[in-house]
Amino acid sequence: MIEYESLAKSNQAVMEKLEAAASRVLRSGWYILGSEVSSFEAEFASYCESTHCIGVANGLDALILSIEALDLPRESDVLVASNTYIATILAIVRAGHRPVLVEPELETFNIDPERLAGAITPRTKAVCVTHLFGKSCRMPEVTAFAEAHGLHVIEDCAQSHGARYDGKLTGTFGIAGCFSFYPTKNLGAIGDAGAIVTHDEAFADRLRYLRNYGSKKKYENAYLGLNSRLDEMQAAFLRVKLEHLDEVTAHKRALADIYFENLPDWVLKPVRRAAEHDVFHIFGIRTTQRDALRQWLLEQGVKTEVHYPIAPHRQRAMQGILTGDYPIADELHATELSLPISAGHEPHDICRVCEVFAAIPAALRATA
Ligand SMILES: Cc1ncc(COP(=O)(O)O)c(C=O)c1O
Repeated sequence: MIEYESLAKSNQAVMEKLEAAASRVLRSGWYILGSEVSSFEAEFASYCESTHCIGVANGLDALILSIEALDLPRESDVLVASNTYIATILAIVRAGHRPVLVEPELETFNIDPERLAGAITPRTKAVCVTHLFGKSCRMPEVTAFAEAHGLHVIEDCAQSHGARYDGKLTGTFGIAGCFSFYPTKNLGAIGDAGAIVTHDEAFADRLRYLRNYGSKKKYENAYLGLNSRLDEMQAAFLRVKLEHLDEVTAHKRALADIYFENLPDWVLKPVRRAAEHDVFHIFGIRTTQRDALRQWLLEQGVKTEVHYPIAPHRQRAMQGILTGDYPIADELHATELSLPISAGHEPHDICRVCEVFAAIPAALRATA
């Protein structure tokens, strides 16, 4: 069986370093906001070619706190892709604002910059883009639009560690790059963790308050903050894994190349563009026979995933919040199929998946 992902396998190469990091923290007696967190923050800011990094508890909090730190008027409109993972939309709602959905490009799954103008209102104050599956959005167009209309740009980089557009890293185009280090991410912790990178010193300072009860000095609370701190143990694990992130990315890009070269022509593969340095958090193909194909692949010993089965505007939690029709999001949610691609997969695993694809019966070969 080829698993979709095995975290034990993906972490195998660094297991001893992770064990040493855990032991170091355990014995240090300092578990919250200590030297591991500040070292990781400095190392990750440098990796991201940014100025500041603020570690937080998870990717959702990174988004919520970044939107809160903008200090927008309550109930501002925030533009966001109609097919993003629910966290991006939840963050806007949790921060007290109104998500306004913008349809993506069918071929890239990313927000379509040409549709931003049709969604703007006098209450629009920000655009929150998601670099889905490890591919950068078309950021020069997004930032030009935002500048022209005086909007803040927040980047959801939960899936795009190290992805670039025209050589520039995702997370450095807007005021905030919001990262998740959920264990399956290209840079994954051994539990929940997240971070925000920013070039803006005052914004960074505000985030440092907000993640810690609105306080930077013990028992003095300047803002209505949260408890959303990155802990020392996760920071120590992340420091180990950050050292290997470029290798993980290179490995996943090489696995993606095997798919590009060996998957049959009828398969609708991810789009590759010269300006975009993709990191393949997910390798998502599209097919109208998605569910039947997925079942057939499973019977042949290949596990796959769907990102995501239900569009945000069709989620029960979003009733009355997200209204309107989003046919492109619907189409993507009905047709996307994610193939195995992880640090724990070897080239021969991906060749095997391609062999299985070559044998797919004609009835299951419909493209989207
Ligand atoms: C695009 C996107 N945004 C936000 C999140 C939220 O991150 P977390 O699970 O760390 O809260 C995730 C990951 O789960 C994600 O994929």
